[in-house]
Amino acid sequence: MGYQVILPAAGQGKRMGAGKNKLLLELSAIPILIHTLRVFEEDEKCDGIILAIHPQDEAEFNVLLKQYQIEKVKGLVPGGKERQHSIHHALKTVKDGEMILVHDAARPFIRKEYIHRLIKAAEETGAAIIGVPAKDTMKTVRNRTVLGTVERSSLWAVQTPQAFRMSILLEAYENAESENFLGTDDASLVERIPHPVTVVEGDYDNIKLTTPEDLFFAEAILKKRKGSF
Ligand code: CTP
Ligand code: MG
Repeated sequence: MGYQVILPAAGQGKRMGAGKNKLLLELSAIPILIHTLRVFEEDEKCDGIILAIHPQDEAEFNVLLKQYQIEKVKGLVPGGKERQHSIHHALKTVKDGEMILVHDAARPFIRKEYIHRLIKAAEETGAAIIGVPAKDTMKTVRNRTVLGTVERSSLWAVQTPQAFRMSILLEAYENAESENFLGTDDASLVERIPHPVTVVEGDYDNIKLTTPEDLFFAEAILKKRKGSF
C-alpha cells in the first residue's frame, strides 16, 4: 500500500540557535530539509508529501524545492503555534489515501527499509511507531532527588515516522483538539482514543537535529553512510 507523509517543518529552531529555521542549515552542503525530503521523494511507496511551514520560510523553501527537483510535495500548509497544530492543519488538507505518515523534517536519517516495516505494521493494526530500546538507566527525579529507578526493559525512546490509518489519526486529532490535549508525539493522541499502537524497532542513527552538537553527530552519520568513517 502507498502512503502520504506529513512533514512538520514550521518550527523556529530555537534550541539550535542559528537565528533561522534549523532545517535550512546544511549538512555536507545540502539543507537538512532536502536530506529529509529526498528520502520520501525516492521512496516508490510515497504518493505525496505535505509540508507544514512557517510563512516566513515559504519563499526560501519554494526555491529549494525547485533547485533540488523535489516533485512529490502536494501542498505547503501554514504551521501553527505547536507541532501538533502544524500537523493538524496539514491533516485537514489530505483528501485521499488510507495510510498517513508523520515524520519530523528534522530527522534526515530515516531509512526506507524502516518506513516500509512501519507501514506493514500500521496496515495490520492501524497505528505504528518507530522506536529504539532505551540505552541509559532511567530514573524518576523530583527536586534533584531520585524517586526511583524505572525498569529499563520496558522503556523505548520513540522517534518518527509514525504511521496511521487516516481515519484513526483524524479521530485522534479531533479528540485532542476538543479536549485541549497537547501531546509530544502523534501516537500519544491515538493512545487516548484509545487505540493500540505497535512499536517497530528502528535504529539509533535516526536522531532529531535539535541542538548545535547534533550537527557534529549528523556529519559523522553521513560519513559512516558514505563508508568513509
Ligand atoms: N514544528 C512545526 N511546527 C511547530 C513546531 C515544530 O512544524 N510549531 C516542526 C519542526 O520544524 C521540526 C519538528 O516539528 O521539524 C520537531 O520539532 P523541534 O525539533 O522541536 O523543532 P523546532 O520547534 O524548530 O525547534 P525548537 O523547539 O528548538 O524551537
Ligand atoms: Mg519545538
